[in-house]
Parts: sequence; structure tokens; C-alpha cells
Amino acid sequence: MKSIDLKDTYLNFFKSKKHIIISSAPIIPENDPTCLFNTAGMQPLVPYLKGEPHPQGKRLADVQKCFRTNDLDSIGDTTHHTFFEMLGNWSLGDYFKKESITWSFEFLTKCLNIPVERLAVTVFRGNDIVPADNESADVWESLGIKQERIAFSDEESNWWPNIDLIGPCGPDTEIFYWRSNEEVPKEFDTKNENWVEIWNNVFMQYNHEENGKFVPLKNKNVDTGLGVERVTAILEGYTDNYKSSIWKDVIQKIEEISKLSYDDEKYTKSMRIIADHIRAIVMISGDNAGIKPSNTDQGYILRRLIRRMIRYAKKLDIDINTNWEQELAILIINKYSKYYNELEKNKKDILETLKNEKIKFNTTLEHGLKEFEKVVKNLNGDIINKDIAFRLYDTFGFPIELTKELGEELNLKVDTKGFEQKFKEHQEKSREGATQKFKGGLASTGETETKYHTATHLLNAALKQVLGAHVHQKGSNITEERMRFDFSHPAKMTDEEKQKTEELVNKYINMAIPVEKLEMKKEDALKLGAEAMFIDKYGDMVSVYKIGDISLELCGGPHVTNTNKLGKFKIKKEEASSAGVRRIKAILED
Ligand code: ALA
Repeated sequence: MKSIDLKDTYLNFFKSKKHIIISSAPIIPENDPTCLFNTAGMQPLVPYLKGEPHPQGKRLADVQKCFRTNDLDSIGDTTHHTFFEMLGNWSLGDYFKKESITWSFEFLTKCLNIPVERLAVTVFRGNDIVPADNESADVWESLGIKQERIAFSDEESNWWPNIDLIGPCGPDTEIFYWRSNEEVPKEFDTKNENWVEIWNNVFMQYNHEENGKFVPLKNKNVDTGLGVERVTAILEGYTDNYKSSIWKDVIQKIEEISKLSYDDEKYTKSMRIIADHIRAIVMISGDNAGIKPSNTDQGYILRRLIRRMIRYAKKLDIDINTNWEQELAILIINKYSKYYNELEKNKKDILETLKNEKIKFNTTLEHGLKEFEKVVKNLNGDIINKDIAFRLYDTFGFPIELTKELGEELNLKVDTKGFEQKFKEHQEKSREGATQKFKGGLASTGETETKYHTATHLLNAALKQVLGAHVHQKGSNITEERMRFDFSHPAKMTDEEKQKTEELVNKYINMAIPVEKLEMKKEDALKLGAEAMFIDKYGDMVSVYKIGDISLELCGGPHVTNTNKLGKFKIKKEEASSAGVRRIKAILED
């Protein structure tokens, strides 16, 4: 099949249906400290799906930069990617099922020329919240999808996102494509893997609240999502995504640099990892958020990607000291600048980041690998214990994942649990140390910001007490001088409310409550009623900060160890931020 330019075709089509094409939001969510990366096209649009008017109208379409860390360990197979692009079109209280389905059908059959015979759909079977979606089924049928190709499924498959997650949600209809050369069966059997999902149209009508209720949203919205890499590969007739037009030139470049062939299965996996990672690296370091490799949050992911990519380049015997990684990065920048013009703007930064981290890692890697060999020689049994793993991390800059991967190659296990524990203890210690230092009057940026970070949790809790449970964090911004906190509330706060809030935060501070960091499954955190700004979190495990009975929030930290470290809290200003969102500026005084 000939290669297709799915993105352009898609955006032009929805432009013709009066959609405004918006630019992708940054890959790093703005104003959401609980979420490392955007993981779906709708994520940056949550406030608008919840009813805030979007400045560009009610019909939107885009291609969104997405990144999922939970796929990191699967990279190397035919279908997983860390970074990927999601096409989406939205109706914010404008059109609904009929138009959405009709346009999806028109796009697939007229623009992409997919024969109707190769299509099948699922629609929602119904539950206690909404009845069966006969309306969608009728629309599909009127367009020419035969009844036996319409399957009614339960909320496991036809509710988005998972029914247990909080936030905007609703029933969906999913579109499937028959990928095989075998004759298309008459009946749609959802279990037959030759039917692959290509598009998801969500009819987002509810907000799943923390108290478990499904409250109808102000608007009936449509949220659709279509993964560019996946759909391109499917339509071009490949089961291996890396063979499609999206990856062809990247793989070719890696072949050229390594002088090896992708089709030689000894090298296929390494090439896929390098291709996936270089693109993700460019997208993360090229984002306007200015992420640099580090040992925390997004910076840590970036570091892991760069280091892992280098390891696989070494496996291909690429001479690491040449400019191979710059060549690859430039190829990606040129390829994607049309959609993400920040890449061109940040080109110098991207290339420098990559080079500096390469040099850093190369030195530590040489030493570390030697150390690793020594360790393995002297090992009693087949387990790399927590002390060894931690030393490799602390002294040789080995991410735990690298130790695990190297271990696996030699059939050795790594005590990762023990490592995590040690890692945490170590962090606690440096945190205590930092606070100690602060007491001595030697405050550095980190400590002051850490205090403000904890103060936002207390303020969030106090506002809920004073104004009501409708208060949720909408964003925050912290500098050494002050904190800014945006939250949902429909009216200006009275002087009395401000005073009460201030007093309450100071009360919490004076109660000297320990700040505990807990690690738990995302679903457990949500069950416990943890405050969370977004429904999609990175990975299944999340960090939750607990401040006595006052506050429980999903958060990456860092935080002080006790509220008594904060000083005196003072509100300096309360003002409007946007529709339905207020902003408080506050300071902490010694
Ligand atoms: N938000 C929906 C998805 O990601 C469209 O599948």
C-alpha cells in the first residue's frame, strides 16, 4: 500500500468540517505537578471538557504530542512507543454522536479510501449510568455498516477512560479495521486479532467525581483519538510499525550509521529502541519546558532514554564518540518541525543536551561496566543485592533499570525493592540535611521552593474547608519569593474567607504534622480519595503525599518532612485567573 500522510489529511478534513486546528499542547503538562507527561490528546483540554469556554471555539482538532512511561520496558517490540502522536477532534457542547460518527466514516472511506467491508464497530451495551447506545448503532447502520459488524460491549471496552478513574468520561464507540489478507469474515468477532482498533470516539457526558458520583457535564462533548503510528502502519499494510513511512528514514539512518541491516534479527530490537528513544529525547528536550537530564521527574526519564539509547548503540558497535546522535536528532527535528516549531527554535539546546549527557554517561559507563564485571565475578548466588545496586547508581550513575537489564543478560536478579528502599532513605537524609542547612540560614533555592510546594497542599486543603469541596487545584507556580495557586471557585473571595483560609493554613503549620510520602497503586490512591488534578498518571504506581488527616494528594514532591518547617503563611493577593478559576498569591515568612 502506498504511504499516506495521515496527519495532513486528517487536519484538512476536520478543517473542512469547520474545526479550528489548535497546536499541540506541550508534552510536559502546564500547571500540573502531579503529571509528568501528556498521555492523551484530551488531557490538556480537561478544563474545556468540563465546561470552561475554549478561546478558539467549540470545534477543535489537533495532533498532540504524547508520552507514556509505562510502555518504556516494552520498547523493542513491533508496536510500542514511548513518544507518539495522537490525532483528535473535539466537540465542546456542539455536535454529538451523529456528526461525529458520520465524519469518522467519511474520513476513513472517502479520504483514506478504506472499503466499508473492512470496517466494524463496537458500541456501548449500557449500564446503571447510561442505557445501551442504540443511537450510535443506528447511525453506523444508516452509513452502511451491517448489523453483524456492530458489537455491543460492556464498560471494560466501551467506556473511556477506565470507569474507576475520576474526571470527564463517557461511553464510546470504537472503529476496527480488518488487517489480514484473509477474506473478511461476515461477523465481527471482537476476539479475532485481525480486527484492530483504529479510532475511538468518546461521548464525554459525565464527570466522575471523587465521591464516586457520575455528574452530567455542562456540555455533551465528543473526544476522539487516533494513534498516528499505529494507524499509519496498519493502513500501509505493516504489522511492524517501524517498517511504516513514519520510521523508514530513521531506521535507514541507523542502518547507515551502524552499517548493519534492520532485517538481520540480531539487530532489529536495538534499532527499534534507538529509533524510538531518539525521537522521544528530541521531543522532551525540545519542549519549551526546558527539561534537562537529572535525577528526578521528567529529567530522570530523559536521562534514562539517552543512556539506554547509547547502550543499544554500543550493541550495534556504533562508535559513540562520533556525531551519530546529533545526526539522528537533526533528522527528527527536520521531520517534525512542521508540526512542532519549538523544535527548530530549541535545536541548539536539544543537540547540546544530548552531547553533554552522552559525554557524561560515556565516562561513567566505562567505569561502571568495569565495576559491574567485578561485581558479577565476586557474586555469591544469582542476586545483585540492594547495596551493590545502590552503589552502581550512586557512584557510577547507573539507573536501576540499566543494572536490571545488564543483570538479565546474565540471568541475574536484582533486588529492586531493596534498592528503592535504600534510595528513599538516601533521599530522606538529603532532605533532612537540606532543612538543617536552612535552619542555619544557608537557604538555597531548592529548600524555599520545597516549603512552598508543601504550602500549596495545605492551602488546597484549607480552601476546601472554607469555600467547599468544589475547590480543586487548577495550577500552581512557585518561585523563591512566593507561591501562586489557581483553583476552581466561582466568585471573588471575601476578606473574611481570605482571613479564615490564612488562619487555617497557619493552624496546620503550627500543628507540626509530619509529611509522609506513600507509594501506592493509582487505583488505591483514588479509592482513598486522594486529590489529583488529572486522570492519567504516569505508570500504575504513584506517589501520594499525606499530611495527617488534612491532605492527601497525588504528587511527585519534593516536600518538607513536617509542616512546622514552613514559617508564617500570608495571602498577598486574591484575583481572577480565568472563568471559574481564582488565583492566590501568597508568601511564607520566617
Ligand atoms: N481520549 C480517547 C483516547 O485516548 C479518545 O482513546
